[in-house]
Amino acid sequence: MEKELLVRKIREGTVIDHIPAGKALTVFKILGLTGEEGFTIAVVMNVESRKLGKKDIVKIEGKFLKPSEVDKIALIAPTATINIVRNYEVVTKRRVEIPDEIINILKCINPNCITNKSNEPVSSVFKVISKRPLKLVCKYCDEIMTERDVIKQLAAT
Ligand code: CTP
Ligand code: ZN
Repeated sequence: MEKELLVRKIREGTVIDHIPAGKALTVFKILGLTGEEGFTIAVVMNVESRKLGKKDIVKIEGKFLKPSEVDKIALIAPTATINIVRNYEVVTKRRVEIPDEIINILKCINPNCITNKSNEPVSSVFKVISKRPLKLVCKYCDEIMTERDVIKQLAAT
């Protein structure tokens, strides 16, 4: 039943699967990867998926994600699954999840927000008011951040 794999299986590392089609490069950027770190990486785009129609996949040999990296991925690729591979086997598979509060991951787009005043060390906190489409509100100044704002910011760093 299984057709030939476009990219071989990895031995040890992380497979970020079920990324919405076209979003793989944003995921790649969010992880701060340039390709010069030396990891063996595969970015697969617009392949067939039973669940999504089309999907993207990012495979990174030798890298395991931090919780904050998983949270960032959830914000722009809420359908993604994170597969941890050891000795060629998937040992952990989990769906990413958008948390109810986003703490210290995003910068408020309101320049006058207290979280943007350099002399006030306040962590940013956003409440998630809608997951799809993504809509967040700053806990400090009530500024609304849309999915577009979030993608722009996460892909820029
Ligand atoms: N994978 C990989 N290297 C491995 C094991 C798995 O690159 N050593 C990849 C597979 O190609 C697939 C993903 O990791 O893209 C998840 O693998 P697996 O759980 O075996 O596939 P499915 O059962 O099809 O996953 P799902 O049910 O999440 O769609
Ligand atoms: Zn704010």
